[in-house]
Amino acid sequence: MSTTSELTRLREFLNELIPSEDQLVRLYQNFCAQIRKGLGSKTNKDASTKCYLTYVQDFPTGNETGKYLALDLGGSKFRVLLIHLKGDSEAEQITKIYDLTERELHSTGVELFDYIAKCLHEFVCEQKVDNEHMPLGFTFSFPCVQTGLSRATLVRWTKGFNCSDTVGEDIGLMLKAAIARRPGLRIDMVAILNDTTGTQMSCAHRNPSCNIGLIVGTGCNACYTEKVENCERLDSKYKDKPKIIINVEWGAFGEKGGVDHLFTDYDRTVDQNSINRGAQIFEKMVSGMYMGELVRLILLRAVNENLVFAQCKLRKHITDILTKKPHCIETKVLSDIANDRGDDWPLVKDVFKQVFNLNNADPDDCMKFKFICDVVVKRSGNMIGVTLSGLVNKVGESFSVIGVDGTVYRCHPNFDGYMRETLDRFVDKDYKYDMMLSEDGSGRGAALVAAVVHRDYMERKSLNAKLRQ
Ligand code: BGC
Repeated sequence: MSTTSELTRLREFLNELIPSEDQLVRLYQNFCAQIRKGLGSKTNKDASTKCYLTYVQDFPTGNETGKYLALDLGGSKFRVLLIHLKGDSEAEQITKIYDLTERELHSTGVELFDYIAKCLHEFVCEQKVDNEHMPLGFTFSFPCVQTGLSRATLVRWTKGFNCSDTVGEDIGLMLKAAIARRPGLRIDMVAILNDTTGTQMSCAHRNPSCNIGLIVGTGCNACYTEKVENCERLDSKYKDKPKIIINVEWGAFGEKGGVDHLFTDYDRTVDQNSINRGAQIFEKMVSGMYMGELVRLILLRAVNENLVFAQCKLRKHITDILTKKPHCIETKVLSDIANDRGDDWPLVKDVFKQVFNLNNADPDDCMKFKFICDVVVKRSGNMIGVTLSGLVNKVGESFSVIGVDGTVYRCHPNFDGYMRETLDRFVDKDYKYDMMLSEDGSGRGAALVAAVVHRDYMERKSLNAKLRQ
């Protein structure tokens, strides 16, 4: 059994990863200040959270009907979907997942979009809808400046994507050009949206109180509904509708220093080892792409300081693996072991076997490993709860539903609770909130945006026809 002093030493060692109340208050204040800057036309250039205008201003009623196509690009897989909206908030969908290899992630933009168009073509032929000329919504989950619903200029790649000749280009035009290069493929791309927007829309489809969308997966980001009068950068021609969804792009929060007081050497190393140094700082502290890496770095130092595996025969071998194999601990592990209640630590032992080829690990080392993982996940959940509180308070509705998606949120049994810990502290007492798991926001959300755009278009067309009569 570990002595109490050993555990106290580990607790002290991890202390810098356990935010104090004061640190969380500062995080809240810094985040709210960045949002204000992001919304302002003069201050936007200095903001880390750019608060991009999405041009999504119409919300689903639940009565949407019709067949739509959706593309979903933004994580480790690429998906094509055929979605049949049936009214009454009902929908049926067929999804096909295509692998994205390192080749696609690091090709040129034209090659990437040719690959996407090829998959799309195969899919519509397989589903026998190649002659139907359907509206398509494209969930493209990277920071983009939008100038309309189907115009989006890529600002930067994130999450390990790095296709050349794409940053600064109009993603909508690139997709349309790739579709045009395939004879026989007729698709009407009507909207580009972020996965957070898709998530908010898919939840709003079932519950109109949903005014925030959150993703905690490979990447992390949120969007929310803002009043048009608070959007200085929005052209007045869009101000006849009362609201607009803002894509906060909070993954970039911290690039102007807002999280320095919580930034540890481990975070610094994760950033230094990444392909986008200095960028997406908040995302690197909280999202699925990086949390396993943080655990690897923390564990390595803990082993070197004799805090874990101190008596283990394979100690040297474990240190070697932790040193030489970046990403040897996947974020998935943090969720898998969270349910290990510690009778015989079967789940932690399984991880030790896979990663270090270690059999019969010492129960104390298992407990300590679980503690390290938990500290990293809790920090993430607590920090996200704080920034979410900023949005709930900004929305200022008596009741807000937060639509959520992403593997970390879905798979980690305590993540929701860790977010609520800080939400309960930072959300204004006049406001109530709840979380709602999205049903495939990236797919259904894209179809819903396509549907509301289509509805709007049809309404305007019939109005014009009446005016001409
Ligand atoms: C991207 C966001 C996206 C988030 C979640 C981030 O890396 O910048 O646009 O919403 O990941 O997928």
